Amino acid sequence: MSFNDVLLQFEQVAYRYPDGSIGLDGCSLGIRAGSRNALLGANGAGKTTLFQHANGLLQPQGGVVRYAGTPVDYSRAGLRRLRTDIGLVFQNPDRQLFSASVREDVSFGPLNLGLDTDTVRQRVDAALDAVGLAHAADKAVHNLSFGQKKRVCIAGVLAMEPKLLILDEPMAGLDNAMREELLSALNGLHAKGITLLLATHDIDFAYRWADDIHLMARGRCTASFASAAMPAREDDLKAAGLPSPQVIALHRALVARGLLAATPLPRSQRELVALLETGALS
Ligand SMILES: Nc1ncnc2c1ncn2[C@@H]1O[C@H](COP(=O)(O)OP(=O)(O)O)[C@@H](O)[C@H]1O
Ligand SMILES: [Mg+2]
Repeated sequence: MSFNDVLLQFEQVAYRYPDGSIGLDGCSLGIRAGSRNALLGANGAGKTTLFQHANGLLQPQGGVVRYAGTPVDYSRAGLRRLRTDIGLVFQNPDRQLFSASVREDVSFGPLNLGLDTDTVRQRVDAALDAVGLAHAADKAVHNLSFGQKKRVCIAGVLAMEPKLLILDEPMAGLDNAMREELLSALNGLHAKGITLLLATHDIDFAYRWADDIHLMARGRCTASFASAAMPAREDDLKAAGLPSPQVIALHRALVARGLLAATPLPRSQRELVALLETGALS
């Protein structure tokens, strides 16, 4: 990873909560511009604490957070600039939503930036469109389903036109159809050049979706690697208390029985089935 393409960098970041719990214990990791990142770690590993450092909600007690090469400026104006570039979507949508209607809620951020009403309207329409909620603009937030509320939260952050979008366990609590919708919205954002970082417990999803994987345990990033390198990083997964993607063991078993070639490595069951169907035995 070269330094000049790193958008967000944590260097030895340390943070202890007022009650003495250790949130981060010298955490270092880098997020490359334009990449899709999955942050994996057991409950309590420090993922949410790390995210709160990404947009300056928490300030490191040790170490430094750099955005676009520059240490974060914790003045009011500095934080305001940072938060226009880095959008954070909390795990619990009720923590983020506070307005009566969807449009009002999504408008709040851009209005706060001092943009004129036409620009705000354009941004809000585009953001609602990106998450598939254009039809729900005038609905009351409290009448929405959990999955829709999550998407309103994402729209609210998108309306700020962030360069980096961070989502804390976005798939948690969503059914399959809602996950697929959210995923296609995220892929659309990535295609527009937005850098994505999300925390997830779904290792299979992380393997097939992410460009870069970051493992956290006990307040530290214990490993960062290209997702494609996952089969060689099973020891790191184990050390962080994480299982391996199922497709890795399946593929290995099929190779051992002479049913598939050792390469290419499938990163999803769908890819594995496709290889079996084309009889890729080179
Ligand atoms: N508000 C808080 N007050 C005290 N301790 C906290 C608070 N939030 C998190 N922690 C502690 O910090 C550590 C990291 O938590 P967190 O960042 O929420 O992990 P994760 O998101 O990976 O589950 C845990 O030990 C947790 O108990
Ligand atoms: Mg968390």
